[in-house]
Amino acid sequence: MEDYKEHYSVLKNECLDYLYLNNEDKESLVFADCTFGAGGHSMAIVERNPNAKLISFDQDPDALANGRKLIEKNGVQDRLFLHDSNFVHFHDVVTGNHQELLDENEGLDGVLLDLGVSSHHFDEGSRGFSFRVDAPLDMRMDYDNDEIETAKDIINKYSKQELADLFREYGEEKFAWRIAEKIEAKREKEGPIETTFQLAELIKDCYPKKLQFGRIHPATKCFQALRIQVNKELDVVSDVIAQVLPLLKINGRILIISFHSLEDRIVKRLFKEFEKNGLGEMLFENEVKKPIIPSEEEISENPRSRSAKLRILKRVSEKKSKNKYEKFSKIQN
Ligand SMILES: C[S@@+](CC[C@H](N)C(=O)[O-])C[C@H]1O[C@@H](n2cnc3c(N)ncnc32)[C@H](O)[C@@H]1O
Repeated sequence: MEDYKEHYSVLKNECLDYLYLNNEDKESLVFADCTFGAGGHSMAIVERNPNAKLISFDQDPDALANGRKLIEKNGVQDRLFLHDSNFVHFHDVVTGNHQELLDENEGLDGVLLDLGVSSHHFDEGSRGFSFRVDAPLDMRMDYDNDEIETAKDIINKYSKQELADLFREYGEEKFAWRIAEKIEAKREKEGPIETTFQLAELIKDCYPKKLQFGRIHPATKCFQALRIQVNKELDVVSDVIAQVLPLLKINGRILIISFHSLEDRIVKRLFKEFEKNGLGEMLFENEVKKPIIPSEEEISENPRSRSAKLRILKRVSEKKSKNKYEKFSKIQN
């Protein structure tokens, strides 16, 4: 296990400001952070108000080991509860372990998701997320779970058609078919494709010569697709939103930071649907009409933040009237 090195939490101030909006002086506050990572957001949440309690999740053994040390070092173990779990089990973990907190606080004040992999995953080359370091093709965030299919399993077991669909759908890769064909031919002739360098080289060779040495490596999109498939990144986003909303108190919010258009599209669509149709008796509103994006300053300090988008859905007791005249006519009647 490698320790987490430097870390930069994306849109940290913006997240904190929204989580604490109209909550600043409360004596009881309960938040959740589904993606603890290096703990940047989590620590900032508990540090802002000594009354705040936080239920955090991560599924990555390195993040958890590092997090446990950090929690102890900061002396917040009585208010920050870190769970070794995929956040797809949000409802069961929160109600199973923290029902009393929920009852006292009448639900959650805010829930944050900072989606995807962390810088640690890319920097720690041995995990197989990066084509810049030669390593076994793994890409599991939860790397000690043997039930999860690795990138190597996918590359060597999926049919040509399945691989092409995966690269096209999750990578938006325009040479998807050509790459899938070449993978099939190579594994038939030479045996399994085992490493990041073998795969990256093969993908590069499928690109026309003039596109092989551009600013963005030709393997970027297929590596993204594989990572999404290994960790079921898109499925868990829709699942978790449906589990978080029923646990929000009135004025409670869910904040989601996404890093690519596939994720953001899901968040945008679901937030719109819940705003329109509610959930049972519960009503919701998008708190920001357009997603919040990092400032120029943040992007220059942390270029990896450049694709981040933050969307916020808030539980409300009544919907703001869409038509300003509707309110007026209600008063007149
Ligand atoms: C972008 S990082 C979060 C960084 C964090 N906000 C910070 O400030 O340090 C995402 C983290 O969420 C974890 N993660 C991603 N998907 C997950 C899931 N479905 N369940 C649990 N943890 C997940 C990853 O292992 C990673 O550590």
